[in-house]
Amino acid sequence: MNTEQPRPRRSCLAVPGSNPRFLEKAQHLPADQVFLDLEDACAPLVKESARHAVVEALNEGDWGGRTRVVRVNDWTTHWTYRDVITVVEGAGAHLDCLMLPKVRDARQIEALDLLLTQIEKTMGLPVGRIGIEAQIEDARGLLNVDAIAAASPRMETIVFGPADFMASIAMKTLVVGEQPPGYPADAYHYVLMRILMAARAHGLQAIDGPYLQIRNPEGFRETATRSAALGFDGKWVLHPDQIEAANEVFSPGQEDYDRAELILDAYAHVTSREGGAKGAAMLGDEMIDEASRKMALVVAGKGRAAGL
Ligand code: GLV
Ligand code: MG
Repeated sequence: MNTEQPRPRRSCLAVPGSNPRFLEKAQHLPADQVFLDLEDACAPLVKESARHAVVEALNEGDWGGRTRVVRVNDWTTHWTYRDVITVVEGAGAHLDCLMLPKVRDARQIEALDLLLTQIEKTMGLPVGRIGIEAQIEDARGLLNVDAIAAASPRMETIVFGPADFMASIAMKTLVVGEQPPGYPADAYHYVLMRILMAARAHGLQAIDGPYLQIRNPEGFRETATRSAALGFDGKWVLHPDQIEAANEVFSPGQEDYDRAELILDAYAHVTSREGGAKGAAMLGDEMIDEASRKMALVVAGKGRAAGL
């Protein structure tokens, strides 16, 4: 990962690159990340004009502290190279990451890395600053996810693409992100865990994909809670109504945050009293040790980033 502090990504707002009204509106919404989409949200006939609209929005827009990402088309199309060249030459200084969809193997990340490096050198941009987000959207991508995560120092996140993924494995349902009827357990557990392990093994963030039933806030919250509980860092949001829920679900609750800070304080106190030696200590009825400190650090870190 090429940033010291991971960028905030609890809510990753999808914005069609072809829609000027949405490109404007997204600048005022409380999403941690916006991704301006040149892929599936743009019909083939508007892809060319969308590239220019995205460049203009990145250069002219006020994106505050949001993480700014553009999703290009995947390498099996003929659009990818022009997407990358137009967007990075036109607005590379105002872009944090490119998102590559339907990644199937590490070579596709290496190819994007090489192209980015050439453009950065040509344009006088700092080499290596623009990161890569890789979407896993089929069985082959999932089987290769370790190599994909390791394919470039630009890699920042692995993103689950449930809609394409469900289609590619022929899952028997039409409702993206919902459990397929007839299966008595969590049909996504393996996929989510596989992505999470690859991400964590390589110091990357793991992001859950979209929930398409935008009029079903309970359904959104349920799927977001599932991936947040495993350790995912955030989820896509397709509608402003989903943003607050994602920000909340992917932040620790106040009680957990307070407890985490308490554990850190108590453990720091014990270790300083014992001259820096680390051992177990009691906090109320709970025994805390170095592993408890690490768990508390994760919760405290997310809480501090969320301003708790
Ligand atoms: C997102 O791209 C998905 O396919 O779910
Ligand atoms: Mg997709």
